[in-house]
Amino acid sequence: MLTHLLADSSATFWLPEQASNFAPEHDWAFYFIYWLSVVAFVVGGAVSIGFAIRFRRKSPDQRTSPIRDHLPLELTWTIIPTIIFVFLFVIGFRTFIKQTTPPANAMEIRVAGYKWFWEFRYPNGESATRDLYVPVDTPVRLLMSSEASSKDDNAVIHSFFVPAFRIKRDVLPYHYTVMWFEATKVGSYHIFCAEYCGTGHSKMIGTIHVVPQDEFEEKIKPAGWDQDKETLAEFGKRTFGEAGCTACHTTDGKPLVGPTLKGLYEKSVDLESGQTVTADENYLRESIMDPQAKIVKGFPPSMPTYAGRLNDEQIDGLIDYIKSLD
Ligand code: CUA
Repeated sequence: MLTHLLADSSATFWLPEQASNFAPEHDWAFYFIYWLSVVAFVVGGAVSIGFAIRFRRKSPDQRTSPIRDHLPLELTWTIIPTIIFVFLFVIGFRTFIKQTTPPANAMEIRVAGYKWFWEFRYPNGESATRDLYVPVDTPVRLLMSSEASSKDDNAVIHSFFVPAFRIKRDVLPYHYTVMWFEATKVGSYHIFCAEYCGTGHSKMIGTIHVVPQDEFEEKIKPAGWDQDKETLAEFGKRTFGEAGCTACHTTDGKPLVGPTLKGLYEKSVDLESGQTVTADENYLRESIMDPQAKIVKGFPPSMPTYAGRLNDEQIDGLIDYIKSLD
């Protein structure tokens, strides 16, 4: 944490580094209010203590001062704070309006909050979870909503938060919310869910990667198996992380939101329906593409479908990876 702060000059004790167009004015408003509070606390405190000592009642029958009112003093302590508070409203409201009105030429990225991961869809139709790539110095409009994984599931309220960009907005079911930014600095920054949304809330994290404009197209190309560098199972392991599976499934035998995948292949699985199936390739594939078809006994029907999100190669990879987890 400390090394992180020292490494970047725009980070301060209270705020992370500045990486978007909104950061400078946000931080200016924050520190204006901060120092105003410090001055008010110190001056107010000092005056209170000073007066308590200076005007301490000397005997039980001592009278209080006969002053009833003092017009110039009352006008001063009314007018000065009014000017300060109206000024605070103006700088806050100006930034709020700016943040809620994206420029017309902004690139649109669709953000969907699921239980419990973020999914991003780019203008070229490609989608990804956890890792969001954006080009530097380009306005990006986020069209956000919370999605249910299936018709038996309820969507919940999330909140999309990028501290380094100073942007945060609720992500709601049955309703779109919009937010925008222009990243000003190449680098990787945290994404958080800032609304306590349930069991997997703390796992609802991600990274926003700001890349040079000429690298952006390259970064959002469809994911593929690099046969020279990795086995199909290794590609599956990579897909397992990239597709957000780790939010609900472990590979070490401990159940999470969903059952563990360790030793799953060819095991017989008890279903909610009372039936038993063998976890062969067809069962694994169906559970990825149509998760509600066979619900494992004791687990909620909360997994979203990956049909249309993963290509055949990625599904083959995942199945090979699961087979390797003995
Ligand atoms: Cu989603 Cu917290």
